Amino acid sequence: MCGIVGYVGAKPALDVVVEGLARLEYRGYDSAGVAVLADGRLTTAKRAGKLVNLRNALEEEPPPAGTTGMGHTRWATHGPPNDRNAHPHTDCTGTVAVIHNGIIENFARLRAELEEAGHKLRSDTDTEAVAHLLEDELKRGGGLPDAMRRVCRRLEGAFTLVAVHTGDTDLVVGARRNSPLVVGLGKGENFLASDVAAFIAHTRDAIELGQDQVVELRPNGVVVTDFAGRPAEVKEYHVDWDVSAAEKGGYDYFMLKEIAEQPRAVADTLLGRIGTDGRLILDEMRMPDQELREVDKVIIVACGTANHAGLIAKYAIEHWAGLPCEVELAHEFRYRDPILNRSTLVIAISQSGETMDTLMAVRHAREQHAKVLGICNVNGSTLPRECDGVLYTHAGPEIAVASTKAFLTQLVAVYLIALYLAQVRGTKWGDEVFAMIQLLAQMPEKVDKVLETMEPVRELARSLAGERCVLFLGRHVGFPVALEGALKLKELAYMHAEGFAAGELKHGPIALIEEGLPVVVVVPPRARDVLHDKIVSNIQEIRARGARTIVIAEEGDTSVEPYADTLIAVPAVPTLLQPLVTTVPLQVFACELATAKGHDVDQPRNLAKSVTVE
Ligand code: M6R
Repeated sequence: MCGIVGYVGAKPALDVVVEGLARLEYRGYDSAGVAVLADGRLTTAKRAGKLVNLRNALEEEPPPAGTTGMGHTRWATHGPPNDRNAHPHTDCTGTVAVIHNGIIENFARLRAELEEAGHKLRSDTDTEAVAHLLEDELKRGGGLPDAMRRVCRRLEGAFTLVAVHTGDTDLVVGARRNSPLVVGLGKGENFLASDVAAFIAHTRDAIELGQDQVVELRPNGVVVTDFAGRPAEVKEYHVDWDVSAAEKGGYDYFMLKEIAEQPRAVADTLLGRIGTDGRLILDEMRMPDQELREVDKVIIVACGTANHAGLIAKYAIEHWAGLPCEVELAHEFRYRDPILNRSTLVIAISQSGETMDTLMAVRHAREQHAKVLGICNVNGSTLPRECDGVLYTHAGPEIAVASTKAFLTQLVAVYLIALYLAQVRGTKWGDEVFAMIQLLAQMPEKVDKVLETMEPVRELARSLAGERCVLFLGRHVGFPVALEGALKLKELAYMHAEGFAAGELKHGPIALIEEGLPVVVVVPPRARDVLHDKIVSNIQEIRARGARTIVIAEEGDTSVEPYADTLIAVPAVPTLLQPLVTTVPLQVFACELATAKGHDVDQPRNLAKSVTVE
C-alpha cells in the first residue's frame, strides 16, 4: 500500500524523490520520509502525516545535496503512524537505510534474533529488522546487492524493499516479492518506484520486475537477478500515457478530473475492439475461441468496487453467454473450497493489478487448473503476468483513492467479454450481438450527457451534508449500483451508507426507514416492466414511512414522478448497460457531499489506493 521512489543519476535526488512521492501519495499518507546519500554520508528525514509535513521539515532543515536517494509514503501496518515509525529505517551504524511496502511475516522472530545479537531497534515496524539484517550481511562482504539477496532469502511475506548504503553512493538496490516495483529507464539516470506515475515526468520507458527479483540501479545501468544471484530476463515496455494524465489539469481534486474523464475512458476501452463488420475482436486476450467454447462455468473474483463490476458482469454473462456465473470476494475465495476445473473460466478484476487478495485468488484458481482471465488497468502490474490472458481497460492512471473511471471501464470490459463469449459460443443470434455492440458503442455519449446534468445532484449533496445515514436501493443490475453508491459515500463522506436489493426491503431493512431518511433508489428502465413496477411500489412503501426519496430513473419515466422527492433523470439505455449511466450521479453525489463536509476526497482517511497486503 505504501509508495516507494528511488533515484540515481545527476539531478538533485531530493527534488526527484519528493516530486515522485507527491505522485504516489495516493498509495498511503500516514507519514512520509526520504534518505539522501551525499559526500559519503546518509541523511534521512521523516514526518508523520501527509507529505506536506515532510516538505515543511525539509524546507526548515534541508539535507545536504546528493544525486542518490529514495523516499516513502506510508500506510501503517506495524506500529502507529508517527515520526519514529515513518520510513526510511536505518541500521545501528546509520550507514544503511531501507524503505518497504508489504508485511514481513517472520519479523518478530528476526527482531528477537537481532536484539539478542545486540542490535538496537528503535521503531515498532517490521521494516527496521531489514536494515539491521543488511548491516550484518554487509559485514560478510559482497556489497549491498549481495546483502539484499541474502536477506530476502530469509524473509517471509510480501515485500518491496529499496535500500541505499554509504559504501556505494551511486547505487540504489531494490527487491520484490508479491508487491509492486517498476524500474524507470532514463539517460544517465534511473528510477525505482511502486508505480510509473512517480517517474513519468522523466521517462516513459520502464521494466517490470518479476517475482523474487533484486535490481541494482546505477546512473548508467540496471542489473536484475533472482534472489540467488542468477541473471533474470526482463521485459521493457513503454508507458502509453504522459505526465499530464497524472496531474489534476485544473481540477481541485483528481476524483473530479477522473469523473469528468469517463466518456473518454469508456471510448478508449472500446477502441479497436469492434471490427469494421461490427464483430468483436479480442485476440489480445490470448484465449483461443476453442477454449472459450469449452468453458462451462465462470467465476469472478475481485474486491471493493471491482467486485461490484463483477456482480454486474454476472447478469451480462448469464444473459448473453448463457453460462453460469458466480461472483466471489477475492479474499473469501481461497479460504473455502471452490469447485474449479479445466473448464472453469475465472475472471479476476483489478484496477491496480496489485490487490493481494485478488492475486492470491488467481494463484489458487490456477493451481486448480482453471483458466484465468484478468481485467486490469495498469500495464506492467502483477495481475496480467499471473493470468492466462488479459483484457486491459484504458482508463488511464486513476489517482484518487475512490474508484470512478476504473469502474466504468471495468463494466465496458465485462460487457465486451460477455458479448464475445456470446459471439464465439453462438448463444445469441449474430444480429442480436451486433445490435448490442452498437448500443455499447454509444455509451461514451450517454455518459457525457449524464455529466452535463449534474448540477442539481451537487446541490442535493450539499443539502444532505448534515445527515448521518443514506440508504441505496436497486434491483437486478441496479443492486450492485446501489452497493457502489453506498461504498462511495462511506469511503468519502465517512457516513453510514448501505446498499440493499430492493426486493429484500420487507425482509428487514425497511425497519431502518424513519422520517426524513434519505434513500436513493435506482429504477430499472420501463422496458423491464415487472422489475420496474415492483421498484416503483418499493418507493411508495418507503415514502409512506417517511423516507426522503431520491430517485434515479430514465428520462421520460413519469411513473416515478409522484413518489420522488428528487428525481435524477439519466439517458434511456438497455437494462444491462444502465449501470454505466446510473453510477455517475452516485459518484458525483458522494464526491460533492464529502467535499461539503470538508474532506479530502482524493485521500480519504485510513484508506490507500491499492491494498497490497492481505
Ligand atoms: O485495484 P483494485 O481494483 O484491485 O482495487 C480493489 C478495491 O480495493 C478498490 O476498488 C476499492 O474498493 C476502491 N477504493 C473503492 O472506491
